[in-house]
Amino acid sequence: MTVLEARSVSKTYTIDNRAMTVLDTVSLMVSEGEFLVIKGESGSGKSTLLSILSGLDRPDSGRVLLGQRDITDLSEDELAPLRNTSFGFVFQSFHLIPSLSVIENVMFPAELRGDPQARLKAEQLLGRVGLTARMNSFPHQLSGGEKQRCAICRALINEPKILFADEPTGNLDLVNGRAVLQLLQELNRDSRISLVLVTHSQEIAQSADRVVTLQDGRIVTSSDHV
Ligand SMILES: Nc1ncnc2c1ncn2[C@@H]1O[C@H](COP(=O)(O)OP(=O)(O)O)[C@@H](O)[C@H]1O
Ligand SMILES: [Mg+2]
Repeated sequence: MTVLEARSVSKTYTIDNRAMTVLDTVSLMVSEGEFLVIKGESGSGKSTLLSILSGLDRPDSGRVLLGQRDITDLSEDELAPLRNTSFGFVFQSFHLIPSLSVIENVMFPAELRGDPQARLKAEQLLGRVGLTARMNSFPHQLSGGEKQRCAICRALINEPKILFADEPTGNLDLVNGRAVLQLLQELNRDSRISLVLVTHSQEIAQSADRVVTLQDGRIVTSSDHV
């Protein structure tokens, strides 16, 4: 079953009166429960594609469908709650809120929608990733690997259909990077959550169900085993 689809999506940025096509009629489907890797060199349009798929950015042309629903033209007020409940986000630079403790960061998306179970769910998730002892620490007191595990808990608290991860191991050393990747794969395997992961890493790409490669804003290869 397709949970998310980009249909012929294009995006152009204009800098100093020069138009640069960052995505050129890209079409992509994400299936329920699949682990999809988006690969490509720096500047090939990976982050832009992820932002458009997840409703953080809009295409100039083409459509984005979440299940049966066309979300391309939704207003920001309509998109924000939809992102909060349907999608989880994990970024290379963690994007934790520095003034909130670990558990408060994790609870935040659940509190936004008034979930009375926010604290309980956050405690459970933090337990699962081995951060119980760090619950009341602040982001600056954590290692990179701990920050990313905290960000993953935050991304999961509203039980999203799709988890987007943009180079989630890019700021981590090898050992922590592997642990974070293993955690993401476990979550993907143990639930029906789709994982859409952007990476340079061939090692990571090898464990995906499917890999698409972007080059100059176009999908150049798509395969089941890369
Ligand atoms: N907001 C923006 N304004 C102008 N140019 C942008 C913007 N976002 C991305 N770009 C440009 O689009 C191209 C693709 O960027 P990006 O999607 O971040 O690539 P990747 O994630 O594959 O490295 C790059 O050349 C980048 O400089
Ligand atoms: Mg990028």
